[in-house]
Amino acid sequence: MSSELAQSLRAPLALPVIVAPMFLVSGPELVVASCRAGVMGSFPTQNARTFEQLDGWIDEIKTGIADLVDPRWAVSMIVHKTYERFDAELELMTDRQPDVVITALGSPSRVADAVHGYGGAVFADVMSVEHARKAAGAGADGLVLVCQGAGGHTGRLSAFALVDEVRSFFDGPLVVGGAISTGRGVLAAEALGADLAYMGTRYIACPESLVGGRYRELLVRAGIEGVTATAAVTGVLCSWLDESLADAGYDTERLSTPGEIDFSDVHGESKPWKDIFGAGQGVGAITGIETVQAVTEQLVAEYRAAVDAVSARSELLRT
Ligand SMILES: Cc1cc2nc3c(=O)[nH]c(=O)nc-3n(C[C@H](O)[C@H](O)[C@H](O)COP(=O)(O)O)c2cc1C
Repeated sequence: MSSELAQSLRAPLALPVIVAPMFLVSGPELVVASCRAGVMGSFPTQNARTFEQLDGWIDEIKTGIADLVDPRWAVSMIVHKTYERFDAELELMTDRQPDVVITALGSPSRVADAVHGYGGAVFADVMSVEHARKAAGAGADGLVLVCQGAGGHTGRLSAFALVDEVRSFFDGPLVVGGAISTGRGVLAAEALGADLAYMGTRYIACPESLVGGRYRELLVRAGIEGVTATAAVTGVLCSWLDESLADAGYDTERLSTPGEIDFSDVHGESKPWKDIFGAGQGVGAITGIETVQAVTEQLVAEYRAAVDAVSARSELLRT
């Protein structure tokens, strides 16, 4: 049984999906297109190079969704104590009031009072049971479980096991991500016990994202065996498109040597992310460049077909 908060966030959506925040990929156009297509749009605040740009992006989002009935949008915010824009960004969010603030790289407690103060919800991005417990105890209303197969900074744990373990102690909104690229996957996430699916990779190639043509081309070409999760590039386990790793000179030896962790340059210029393209194991679902609306319509159709297929199977069980 999903919580009241989960139901209120999900109710106005055409499909229980958050288009996940992605570094150098998600900007205001993707957020607006996601909301207009009936899913929850989001972006990481650090994608805006300056605070002024961030302010302008939020204006664009608010204007772009002003005519919608009950749209849902979210931001992800770095809450690490070294993040110098933290205070200013939190004040901006208090003013602009996204439905959900997703916290990354630190404790959700840093934003909880401010976000709850305007009636928003705080979700924490976690990859382990330990972090899920900590975040739940630190004021997170919801948890985003980033699991194996996810694009970008990826998880190591299977969604099948992690959702179950977290559900044993957490009954708030649960979002699950990691290689969910079809409507069948969205239904599967719900069957596991999640309230919403977190989908990044499936939406990167859409014309509304910030990425360039080469990235889109590689996404269309790649399948599950065309991505590799490695810590060699940034020091943190990330899932990348193989062709972009090869273009950047990552051979087998370089791929087995962990890189250095460096969060110092997070404002849109980070070198590895510019030249090496992140994608998860669900990349095979991308077969062309389609708008957010078209992708979402396809997901809805797949979801409905999956619901029918599952009910047909359950009929079989009874006979
Ligand atoms: C290119 C790329 C960049 C990402 N950047 C971020 C980010 O800046 N912040 C964040 O919280 N998650 C980031 N993610 C992770 C996504 O929010 C999400 O967890 C992931 O895309 C879900 O898995 P999927 O790609 O298989 O759908 C990124 C993912 C990708 C593919």
